[in-house]
Parts: sequence; structure tokens; C-alpha cells
Amino acid sequence: MRITVIGTGYLGAVHAACMADIGHEVLGVDVDEAKIAALAEGRPPFFEPGLPDLLARTHERGNLRFGTSLQEAAEFGDVHFVCVGTPQRKGSYAADLKYVDAVVEGLARHLDRPSLIVGKSTVPVGTAARLAARIAELAPQAELAWNPEFLREGTAVLDTLEPDRLVVGVQSAHAADVLRSLYGRMVEAGTPFLVTDMATAELVKVAANSFLATKISFINAMAEVCEATGADVVPLAQAIGMDARIGPKFLAAGLGFGGGCLPKDIRAFIARAGELGVDQAVSFLREVDEINLRRRARTVELGLDLIDGSYRGTRIAVLGAAFKPNSDDIRDSPALDVAASIGRRGGDVVVYDPQALDNARRAHPELAYVNSLDEALTGADVTMVLTEWDEFQDMDPVAVGEQVAQRNMVDGRNILDPVAWRKAGWRYRALGRP
Ligand code: UGA
Repeated sequence: MRITVIGTGYLGAVHAACMADIGHEVLGVDVDEAKIAALAEGRPPFFEPGLPDLLARTHERGNLRFGTSLQEAAEFGDVHFVCVGTPQRKGSYAADLKYVDAVVEGLARHLDRPSLIVGKSTVPVGTAARLAARIAELAPQAELAWNPEFLREGTAVLDTLEPDRLVVGVQSAHAADVLRSLYGRMVEAGTPFLVTDMATAELVKVAANSFLATKISFINAMAEVCEATGADVVPLAQAIGMDARIGPKFLAAGLGFGGGCLPKDIRAFIARAGELGVDQAVSFLREVDEINLRRRARTVELGLDLIDGSYRGTRIAVLGAAFKPNSDDIRDSPALDVAASIGRRGGDVVVYDPQALDNARRAHPELAYVNSLDEALTGADVTMVLTEWDEFQDMDPVAVGEQVAQRNMVDGRNILDPVAWRKAGWRYRALGRP
């Protein structure tokens, strides 16, 4: 099929490359010319494992190209995926829909033949119905469907090529047929293909992310209780996770969730529920958000405990800037939030991350950055592991002990072995652990 993917961020770039990989003719479109130029040369504008290889493959095959014109997109494609961002609106919990609105509006104006517009962006429930009405005015031959995306950064390529499920919210059986055939390879491989109305599809996405955020905050709430009682959240999570009804995933207690999705999606859900008069139904999500943010403050306190109550005049090695490992994304990163907070309290913070340094520097120019783990560790009074990169998990407590000024460790992600670190002479503190 001839498809376009509009918006080439983490979601769109991966979707475009994967759709080309399964054999479609794809045009990726973005307003950011630098991003488009990089993608056209086969260089992803961000770090995502597997994406460079995929782009190289499709480059060779010649069925993926990039451009900046919505008119060209309208002329080229029969199916148009909308993959632009829906960030949190400034001064509000609500999602900012200006990019989605602009793309649908701009595209529909050029559509003069039957085509399918497929929303992938995460939007408040009811957005698709509103957009469908606008499309009916501007391009009566076009139809809208909603097909939420569940990919995780760091494993986005695999998540797209081998998804757990495909959910399509449609207004006609025809739209469902088009999408079933577009995703034919996945459907034939056994991926469940769920057809719903558009509102349900919009909600599936927001509900899934809310559930994941709640699961993380649940275990972090248990970590708070553990801290007050001397219990240990790590074996606690392991034990409850062995109940198949609960399951072990997303029960890693620590510094909590960040990124461009979970935090803003639960807030947008709270805002939308308020507009719909069902605020009470999701009021627990406020607590989920609060628990999550309290973990950041607690991490700052754990460091303080190790250096007698003041960060002034101390050197703090912050290991990790990305919101999660295998990503260079620093949007709402818990690690950078903690680093900035310690900096404001007078600490001499030095940040190292294997991939996210450039993005971190742009967002927090007030912090100091180094290009290697060794440089970060040298002379540190407190070392803090805030993103669980393998490189940090693999550190040898004895060798690292020789590099730092004081053996003080805050393990913000519960990835180090407390016994081994304490044996090597470290004062070790972690979230939810004695
Ligand atoms: C999340 C969802 O997992 C995807 O399914 C969804 O498609 C995506 O948002 C989206 O809406 O686009 P992502 O933001 O890439 O994906 O990252 P996650 O793997 O969900 O991690 C989110 C945060 O939770 C990270 O900061 C991670 O460190 C934290 N986390 C995760 C924990 O603190 N504990 C855990 O047990 C798991």
C-alpha cells in the first residue's frame, strides 16, 4: 500500500521504517527539515536500538522516503498515519492538540480522493469524533480511524514489528478491512486484531498507560511503607509478582516513571475526565502522580543523609540522564529532575549518560556533564545511579571505590547488590530497602 506517516518523532520514524520493512511504499513527513534531512540519509535523529539497521535496509530497497509537504502526502498516500506529539499544555494538565489539529486540517484540505486518515497520537477521548466531523467538511471522501500505538522507547522496532495486539477504532467495516490488510504480516503471525469504535480505541491507549503508571506507583507506595518499617521492597515485589494475576512486570520500585508518555498521559486523562464530569473515576491518578514525584524528593534526601545534611561543597556523580535505559529521551526524566534539584541546593553535580548527554545539556545547561563513567566517578562524595543502564549495573564496587572520594552510593533504581557494595566498604542507600 502507499502510506504516509506524518510526524517523525520516536513514534512516527519507527512506524514509517517498520511499515516500509513489511513491504509498503512509505512517505514520512515532518515540518522539521533537519530531522527529515537526517532520516533521508538513513540517520535517525534520536537513539533507538535497531532503527539505524532498519533505515539502512529500507534505504536499499527504496520504498521509504521523506519530505515536508502535506500536499505531497495527500497526493501520494491512500492511508495517512498521524503520529505527531500531544504534549502537556503549559499551565494545565490537559494535552495540547495543536499539532494533531494542524496536521488533520492541513492534510484534509488537499485530499480529493477516497483515503483513510489513521490517528496514532495519544489523544483525549472524543478527539477522533471532533476530527471526523471536521474531515467530513473538508474532505468528504476521506475517512478517519484511530489506531493507538503501544511501543516502548528502547524496544520500539520490535514492539512495532511484533506487537502484543493491534487495536483499530473505526467508523466502517471498510476501514477495518484496509487496516487488517495493511498489518497483514502481523495478523497472519497471530497478533490479535481488535476492532472497536473510535472512542474505545482512544481510551484503550490512555487506560493502558494509566494502568502501567498505577502499577509502578503502587510498588513505590509499598517502598514508602518499607522505608518506615525496615522491610525490603525488592523481595516484596518478587513475591507478589509470582501471583500470575499480578505478574512481575512493571513492579520495579525506585525513582519512578518519566518520559514523554506516562506522566503527561495520566494528567491529560485527569483533565479530560474533569471535562466529562467523571473526575472521581480517575481521582486516584492524582495520587499515582504524587507518589511518583515523592520518589524524586526522597532520592534527594537519601543523598543528604549520606553527607550530613548539606549538598554545599560536595561533588555528586549522577549516573543517568535518560528517563529510561536504551533511550536518549530526557523528557520528564526523573534522573535529571533529581540532578537539577541537588544543583539548586548547592551540590557540585556531574552528570554522565551513555546516550542522552546532548539532550540533557540542552534542557539543563546549568549542570556539568562528562563523557565517561570514569570521569563522573572521580572524586565523587556521593554516587547516584538514577537510570538503569547496563554500564552502571556492571560496576565493580571495589574498583569504583578506588575512584571516588567517599564511598557513598544512592541506588535510585535498585539495580546494585547491596551486600557486595557494603562489603566493599560503601554506605549504600536505596529506595524501599533497609
Ligand atoms: C510507555 C508505555 O510502556 C508504552 O506501552 C506506550 O506505548 C508509551 O509509553 C507511549 O505512550 O508512547 P515508554 O514511555 O517508552 O512507554 O517507557 P516505559 O517502558 O513504559 O517506562 C516508563 C517509565 O517507567 C520509565 O521512566 C521507567 O524507568 C519507569 N518504570 C518502568 C519504573 O519505574 N518501574 C518499572 O517497573 C517499569
